[in-house]
Amino acid sequence: MNNKSLASKRVLQIPKSAIHEMTRLSKEVEDVAFLSWAKPTSGAPPHIGEAAVDAIKKGVVDGYSVSLGLPELRQEIVKKLARDNNIKADPSQIIVTVGAIEGIAAAVLAVIDPGDEVILPSPTYSTHVNQVQLASGRPVFVPTVEEEGFVLDMEGIRKAVTSKTKAIIYCSPSNPTGAVFSEQQLRELAEIALEHDLIVITDEAYEYFTFDGHKHFSMASISEMKKNVVSCFTFTKTYAMTGWRIGYLHADEDLIPQINKVHIPFSICVPVVSQYAALAALRESQDCVKDFWQKYFSARNLMCERLDRLDSVFEYQKPGGSYLMFPRILLDEGKDSQAFCVDLLRKARVSTTPGVDFGPTGEQHLRLSFCVEDDMINTAFDRMEKYFRSQ
Ligand SMILES: Cc1ncc(COP(=O)(O)O)c(C=O)c1O
Repeated sequence: MNNKSLASKRVLQIPKSAIHEMTRLSKEVEDVAFLSWAKPTSGAPPHIGEAAVDAIKKGVVDGYSVSLGLPELRQEIVKKLARDNNIKADPSQIIVTVGAIEGIAAAVLAVIDPGDEVILPSPTYSTHVNQVQLASGRPVFVPTVEEEGFVLDMEGIRKAVTSKTKAIIYCSPSNPTGAVFSEQQLRELAEIALEHDLIVITDEAYEYFTFDGHKHFSMASISEMKKNVVSCFTFTKTYAMTGWRIGYLHADEDLIPQINKVHIPFSICVPVVSQYAALAALRESQDCVKDFWQKYFSARNLMCERLDRLDSVFEYQKPGGSYLMFPRILLDEGKDSQAFCVDLLRKARVSTTPGVDFGPTGEQHLRLSFCVEDDMINTAFDRMEKYFRSQ
């Protein structure tokens, strides 16, 4: 019998995710303090679920919607984009997607041909890298400048552009570093994109969670970039609607039908019940978003205070956004971040994510999530303090 995998080369080239491996290993250890998931531990506000139940009772969720999404939802998204992102949009330029992730995947498959190069700041969200690989594109990593808070290296990006470059993908606020790319840097990036006619795919999942005066900037608000940006958003982070699997993208009307050719074979449409839930999320009070912001802001401050007490083990850049941070491990053991995190899990019962999962400059780091209760942060750090003291 032949042991060769029957899977495609495209899929086989994708390494096993360290995030999922850590999740698997964490299940083998009892009473773990979790700092490894970029998933809010609080649930979505109740009014969102109630709107979904109402829609079920009215019997309006059992069929497909149009593939672009319910017209009334796209109308609300247009209002939100004008209000919060300074993006002038029309409902025909919106696709409601299965989370931001399906939107980004559909955009990548719609614009990348085999062999096309895609520039990614490093470290970056590993799924973006996999999406490029699945489209048979070539990820080109440009290290960010860690000492300045993981900001973009504009010169490095300019140098990375070749005749094969087709796109740039970034997330800001960033997973895993928490960096918020400034308007000035993003305008410069837009100039590079225009000069070389590149598509920029933005992942704005954490748009509402910025701190200390950092401001979220949407590149699609630059009118000259109309044809060159696909902007991807989600309800997952803003309203803690992780399991509802709903997000949306905005792109130029030329590109929308092309992206929809990918969206349809993968999903036909987003589950209609989730679309009604999202409609309520946008139409009703936004106080819940402010509450989440307050929670993440104070959790971030707590995590930084606790990290300050472990300054012989970790050095960190204070995250200006998201609910993630990416401390550098000062110990030699950090060279193998996967082994370091497995040790922390088995010996200190703290689950974290190895930096190696986030691109070539991720090694010697780990990712910590602060979208958890303060108690979880304190338990995790009490255990780490004890563990590193005993080393
Ligand atoms: C940067 C980033 N983009 C997208 C996602 C996934 O979002 P969604 O649930 O909307 O697909 C995540 C989830 O952790 C993320 O961190």
